[in-house]
Amino acid sequence: MSLKIAVFYGSTTCYTEMVAEKIQALLTADPALPKDCSVTLHNLKTQPLSRMADFDVLILGISTWDFGELQEDWEAQWDDISSVDLSGKIVAMYGMGDQLGYAEWFLDALGMLHHAISEQQCQRIGVWSTEGYDFIKSKAVTEDGEWFYGLALDEENQYDQTDERVMRWLNQLLDEMAELAELP
Ligand SMILES: Cc1cc2nc3c(=O)[nH]c(=O)nc-3n(C[C@H](O)[C@H](O)[C@H](O)COP(=O)(O)O)c2cc1C
Repeated sequence: MSLKIAVFYGSTTCYTEMVAEKIQALLTADPALPKDCSVTLHNLKTQPLSRMADFDVLILGISTWDFGELQEDWEAQWDDISSVDLSGKIVAMYGMGDQLGYAEWFLDALGMLHHAISEQQCQRIGVWSTEGYDFIKSKAVTEDGEWFYGLALDEENQYDQTDERVMRWLNQLLDEMAELAELP
């Protein structure tokens, strides 16, 4: 089955964008992804959320700013989220934040994005263990504290773990996608 995969992201100082580019490069080079699948990048600074309708798999990248606020390009289109129909789509998320500098608001925007689409009939993949992180509070964590709603990245304090985390997460996504979308 050929899949149209899109990474939609908002990025103020390019960190989330660099990870989006990494995800595109790694996924397109991965032999586990059938050659007729496409992976495209969509910066919310210039592209509307409504374009999500054109894809089968969505990977959503968001950073947190200003003590638990949304990244500005996500914020600019926030009111449109409820009108984007995600039913039947596979959706994964990643968030970027600073667990020491903003320990009480770590990755809050990832949590807000999770809640904004939680009523949608999409298939969510890509939760990530909270083990190995040190923060006080986060809206991006399940009630039991065990999982982030998506991949958690911290370029301020754990930049040396980003590449390995992205690679592991993409392998996880490919496994989960294979089950849901019947990839070979
Ligand atoms: C002024 C400022 C406020 C920030 N506020 C938060 C925050 O509340 N929570 C958090 O987890 N990270 C916070 N961060 C860290 C950013 O999310 C982090 O630097 C991220 O990598 C930025 O990604 P971007 O450049 O793609 O937008 C803040 C950073 C700055 C400079």
